Amino acid sequence: MAPLVWLITGCSSGFGQQFVHSILARGDKVIATARTLSRIAHLEQLGASTLQLDITSSQSSIDATIAKAISIYGRVDVLVNNAAFIQIGTLEDLQYEDWVKQFDTNVFGTIKVTKAVLPHFRERKSGCMVFISSLSGWVGHDACGAYAGSKFALEGIVEALNRETAPLGIKTLLIEPGRFRTNLLSSGNMKAVPSRIPDYADMSSEKMKGLAKEDQAQPGDPKKLVEITLDLVKGEGVAEGREIPLRMPLGIDCADELRTKCEETLRVLEEWGSVIRDTDLQR
Ligand SMILES: NC(=O)c1ccc[n+]([C@@H]2O[C@H](COP(=O)([O-])OP(=O)(O)OC[C@H]3O[C@@H](n4cnc5c(N)ncnc54)[C@H](OP(=O)(O)O)[C@@H]3O)[C@@H](O)[C@H]2O)c1
Repeated sequence: MAPLVWLITGCSSGFGQQFVHSILARGDKVIATARTLSRIAHLEQLGASTLQLDITSSQSSIDATIAKAISIYGRVDVLVNNAAFIQIGTLEDLQYEDWVKQFDTNVFGTIKVTKAVLPHFRERKSGCMVFISSLSGWVGHDACGAYAGSKFALEGIVEALNRETAPLGIKTLLIEPGRFRTNLLSSGNMKAVPSRIPDYADMSSEKMKGLAKEDQAQPGDPKKLVEITLDLVKGEGVAEGREIPLRMPLGIDCADELRTKCEETLRVLEEWGSVIRDTDLQR
């Protein structure tokens, strides 16, 4: 297989940084992007091309950056929409602006980057779009509504996008990590608003303590997740000879919580089936 050209958002840390290492190790080309270029200078030393890209920039500015990216190797084969952050806080404690910022990065930023790359993929009738979603794209945990909302939104948008673009020869993959050891929950990256509302005080303080304990103690290995994602895109390793699903949950926690949610949903459909199905207008 000829080397692929990958474009990754959010390479200054976590999965993004690991993608660059793993892609180069497999002999592919990578254009690493980050909103602060100096934070990925070390990746250039390793052989990556680097570009500044804040996914909350205007559509025209992102279009220009993607055009520059395509011109580096003459094409992009795989886009990895990885950049995001997590906003913690209850619905009442978060300000409207907090909600907008969460969606501006995790949803609208991702849409803008994808819109910029899609004409190139359509023109070539090929290409692969990887979206780093989350267990939070399936389950809304307490004080996690903004983040879960952004990932639920992404799931629906990408499911529709897959239906629109699969017939054009473009592949789509939703990676759904459970808890992996990156800097997502570290103080510089995570935004958290402890509750000021007495009714939520106990839950909120337990949540903050739990997240502090979880930071850098998550069970998931980012390298394993990235290597599996590369296998899925390239049809190698664990993916060799297998049909690739749209969604790939990863991690024991993710597998268990998804199963519980699916079983609960099936139980409701069964127990309430006669009510659920008896809603048509009488003919
Ligand atoms: N780790 C987990 O347990 C987990 C679980 C489920 C899903 N995820 C998802 O995995 C993806 C990567 O996160 P991570 O776990 O690797 O966390 P991370 O270590 O905090 O990395 C997040 C990256 O996103 C970048 N970023 C944030 N806002 C950006 C913007 N506006 N423009 C460009 N880059 C931006 C950050 O760059 P700066 O350095 O500039 O802030 C950073 O490089 C995210 O989509 C996250 O939601 C992670």
